[in-house]
Amino acid sequence: MSPTTDTSTTATSTTDTSTADPSTADTSTTSISTTDTWVKLQALAADAKNINIKEQLDIPGRLDRFTIDLGPLYVDLSKHAVTEEILNLLLKLADESQVLDHARAMVCGDPINVSENRPVLHTGLRHPAPPLPDEFIEHVKEERAKLDLLSQQIRNGTWRGITGEPVTDVINIGIGGSDLGPKMVVQALREFHTGPNVHFISNVDGAEILSLLEKLNAASTLVVVSSKTFTTAETLLNTQTALAWFETELDLDSSQSPAQCIAITNNREKAKAFGIPDQQILTFPDSVGGRYSVWSSIGFAICIALGFDNFKAFLAGGAQLDQHFLNAPPEKNVPLLMALIGIWYNNFLGAQTHAVIPYCERLGLFVDHLQQVDMESNGKLSTRQGKPVELETGPIVWGQTGTNGQHAFFQLLHQGTKLVPVDFIGTLHDELSKPEHHRVLLANMIAQSEALMTGQVNADPHQQYPGNRPSSTLLLNKLDPGSLGMLLALYEQKVFVQGAIWSINSFDQWGVELGKQLTNKILSGSMDHDPSTSALLKKTGLSD
Ligand code: F6P
Repeated sequence: MSPTTDTSTTATSTTDTSTADPSTADTSTTSISTTDTWVKLQALAADAKNINIKEQLDIPGRLDRFTIDLGPLYVDLSKHAVTEEILNLLLKLADESQVLDHARAMVCGDPINVSENRPVLHTGLRHPAPPLPDEFIEHVKEERAKLDLLSQQIRNGTWRGITGEPVTDVINIGIGGSDLGPKMVVQALREFHTGPNVHFISNVDGAEILSLLEKLNAASTLVVVSSKTFTTAETLLNTQTALAWFETELDLDSSQSPAQCIAITNNREKAKAFGIPDQQILTFPDSVGGRYSVWSSIGFAICIALGFDNFKAFLAGGAQLDQHFLNAPPEKNVPLLMALIGIWYNNFLGAQTHAVIPYCERLGLFVDHLQQVDMESNGKLSTRQGKPVELETGPIVWGQTGTNGQHAFFQLLHQGTKLVPVDFIGTLHDELSKPEHHRVLLANMIAQSEALMTGQVNADPHQQYPGNRPSSTLLLNKLDPGSLGMLLALYEQKVFVQGAIWSINSFDQWGVELGKQLTNKILSGSMDHDPSTSALLKKTGLSD
């Protein structure tokens, strides 16, 4: 479908990229870690402790070279232990790994999710246009029209539940990507919230849903069941609890209660079998992975809370970032550069983790969402061809908002023995805050990045700050739908680039299946367990 199809694990650009089947495109046997570029980077890494970040900043042109202004988003990548020579080699690595060809294959709809033999088309939701297949474009447009209409009806009170009352409260029941993305966006953009109250239930911990239901009026509550597969046990159990509540509160029978629900799924048949009326089912394509589904009908809760126009602005921000990623020159390409700098720390300097610290309380859930985007995508141990990886893959992503984190774990960032690259995220303007608060918030963020880099010499070892600790700073003009879309797409594409260079499939998640199977085995009463597990099952009353 695309002019150049899948790239390879290999760094040799002589590989024939016209191969149509991405699973067989990696024809060369050369691993990226044996290429000249990789070996040169390893040699430079051996000497990396001598790179002084602050001195790097004294080099004329450094700031210009390492900062990029994308309009709503300004990115400063200058405070890194990356010299010009290292950056050039990292860019060569990306070139030799044919990252941008792989990206083009993704956006054109090639089946780059090789273990599930599917295309990966969340970018197509942001920009549904040729060369994507007509069928896909039509489907996206139809579902968008339904999202628009239904969310408008719910917001203006014309959509009525079974008792005829307009909706005051919506409960989105879903987990993972069917929860984190919409929950993060609704929380981040609460300045734009003009619709009914929206609540999110994800955990199967019954205390959560029961305490929420206690506060709501069943007659004016709408349940949105969000599940790509419509098989996720937690979501189905929480939905059954909500339906039982409708039945008790509204005196319904079990065939009536699903009428108080809307389902968002890729599995219409399962939703119908569950009793959800056909006209109350919104769908999205199989080619959209759960952790990327916030851009699809899974964004329904966003449309209800913020209105469809704001959802469109969020999509447009994501599309703008995609255009930048596909067209900007490599040396100014933000997702590419962030990914490469991450690879430098992860694969050459031994960093195990990556911290993301938004200086905006409303972006607190951004870190949670990013954990799924990054760790479910790149926490992999086999290559796209099913061979064991020879390289370190995805880092542990963690963090929380500043200034809170400063009073919790920043001690380790400043004086601990671990290398932890940090992303600081701030907003230039915040109309929900007060100027005197916002000044202090931003001053803290900038001071932390400076302190991590400069450190401080002190005769007392307890008060010594080694400094030379790297960070990026990302500044949103303001936290609005467009800039949030851009920020999220930036991280998604960063994760894409890293997965492409490590030659892993960033779009499956087989690692989560075993735990699900064993939960079912336990719940079915199987006695076949090791002594520790058997004792725990006895102690918890899950077995006799
Ligand atoms: O178990 C992991 C996972 O499959 C995620 O990838 C997904 O976002 C989540 O579960 C929820 O899945 P579903 O939307 O199918 O209920």
